[in-house]
Amino acid sequence: MFKPLNQDIFLITNTNIDNYSNVKIFNDIPSIRAHLQDKQSIAFVPTMGNLHAGHLTLIKHAKQLSHEVVVSIFVNRLQFLPHEDFSRYPRTIEQDCVLLDELNVNTIFVPDEKILFPTHQEFLLALPPIADTLEGEFRPGFFRGVTTIVLKLFNIIQPSLALFGKKDYQQLFMVQQMVKQLNLPIEIIASETVRASDGLALSSRNQYLEKSQRSEASYLFQTLNYIKEEIISSHKDFASLQEKSMQQLTKRGWKVDYIQICNRISLAPAQNRNEPLVILAAAWLDKTRLIDNVEV
Ligand code: PAJ
Repeated sequence: MFKPLNQDIFLITNTNIDNYSNVKIFNDIPSIRAHLQDKQSIAFVPTMGNLHAGHLTLIKHAKQLSHEVVVSIFVNRLQFLPHEDFSRYPRTIEQDCVLLDELNVNTIFVPDEKILFPTHQEFLLALPPIADTLEGEFRPGFFRGVTTIVLKLFNIIQPSLALFGKKDYQQLFMVQQMVKQLNLPIEIIASETVRASDGLALSSRNQYLEKSQRSEASYLFQTLNYIKEEIISSHKDFASLQEKSMQQLTKRGWKVDYIQICNRISLAPAQNRNEPLVILAAAWLDKTRLIDNVEV
């Protein structure tokens, strides 16, 4: 239950929590700026909410790095294509705040769309060609939407550190490049992917999966591990490895967007196994799109 403190700050109270809960939810830019102005070394975790153990691990990681942790929850319209799941994206703000309270995170930024986009967002970042590959090829404009909102949030929160999950490997890469090329004084920290016991990377979109699809879903991770093992045991023909794996997934009923063995530093397609490698994949099980990656 939310109790308005004043028009900008809300205090969340929950009868399931024994201890007095002191989460402060800021909806507005001046109020969060005022709250943070004296704080040193803020660690920031931007999210779209519907928090699961993957997010919570990222937030725990942030807490190890700083006393001042800020989590934002904002479902960013700019990074969804018109036919994508923006309107049905799960929004569970009260449940999220309870989880954050349990972690003792007490600064949450939950801006309304009108706060972040008082007018139509016409200033957008121009991104390098790598943003049009992999995820960017199948979700045109996705990284422009992500980096634009992340830059806006960085400007509001002004963190020293910001944490991103390796689960969204290319997103982490794009944010690292943005920070470097725009000289932002923010250290980007990568956090390991959190998985279910069968290997499926945790994601808010997993809840779209039906029961039979949920058991099939871990096959994506198994496929990436198969490719990794093949590379380690000196399989050199990357193109045929990618092709064979895509065919196997297709035979099992998946629709594969891509499986690509990339150089970890540039995210360009890798040429040989002496490079630092990451294998990236995106594939659909019916209407649910899953992404995953494995470093070699
Ligand atoms: P969202 O999907 O909510 O993810 C927020 C953060 O949690 C991202 O850094 C993501 O990589 C991380 N994360 C998600 N699942 C994870 C898992 N299983 N293991 C480890 N980390 C995981 O990513 C976004 O939101 C948005 O694009 C955002 C950056 C907030 C910009 O709108």
